Amino acid sequence: MVIAMAARTSILISVAVLLTLAACTVQAHHASSSCKRKLHCGPSKFIFYTHNTVYNPSVDNREYFNSIYSSPPNVSFANPFGFGIVNTFEDPITVGPSNNSRLLGKAQGFYVLNSFTEYTLFHLFTANVTEGKYQGTIDIFGQIREAEPVRYLTVVGGTGAFLGARGLATCTRVEFDSTPPAKWTLSFDLKLYY
Ligand SMILES: *[C@@H]1O[C@H](CO)[C@@H](O)[C@H](O)[C@H]1NC(C)=O
Ligand SMILES: *[C@@H]1O[C@H](CO)[C@@H](O)[C@H](O)[C@H]1NC(C)=O
Ligand SMILES: *[C@@H]1O[C@H](CO)[C@@H](O)[C@H](O)[C@H]1NC(C)=O
Repeated sequence: MVIAMAARTSILISVAVLLTLAACTVQAHHASSSCKRKLHCGPSKFIFYTHNTVYNPSVDNREYFNSIYSSPPNVSFANPFGFGIVNTFEDPITVGPSNNSRLLGKAQGFYVLNSFTEYTLFHLFTANVTEGKYQGTIDIFGQIREAEPVRYLTVVGGTGAFLGARGLATCTRVEFDSTPPAKWTLSFDLKLYY
């Protein structure tokens, strides 16, 4: 009885495996017939630096800012970490860390402060690389904690030389000056696959 049941179970499993394999074969067949061409491969490493100066009404730097903070949400309780504030930016990006290093293009996007208990920044931006050997856009996404010296974001896509790119964007702050208007430089060290 036990043996018979075991045999029946193993037959059922075999049938299930066969059905699954058959389904995979059908899918693989469809996939191969609709996917004859592959994307090219872009660079597997790419580094750039973003330079940001925050608009500050108290020093009225309207001629040279790269980012603006939205108003804090109108809540009736203390909001020490600015939960819900958005910073929208359009930063020049360069080859090296210096602000007069060769221009590569610009990074446009935003981050949202999204914690009640610490500074955390949810990022979404596109780096538009318009100079140099590799040109195209790189889409970068991720949640970071201000307290971390090294921040990890992901590359979720791209166009042009970076078409189909995915990978890791390691971000570090290479310069920070809190004297109003606050300014900083970030490095983005990308490891990409296609
Ligand atoms: C903020 O909320 C309070 C209470 O609801 C309201 O009286 C006030 O007008 C709001 N301020 C703004 C700028 O919306
Ligand atoms: C570039 O950096 C130098 C030295 O840190 C600084 O004096 C200058 O104001 C910066 N220029 C811009 C446009 O931020
Ligand atoms: C990138 O910049 C170039 C040059 O300004 C522009 O033609 C192109 O449309 C930009 N791409 C995006 C996605 O903004």
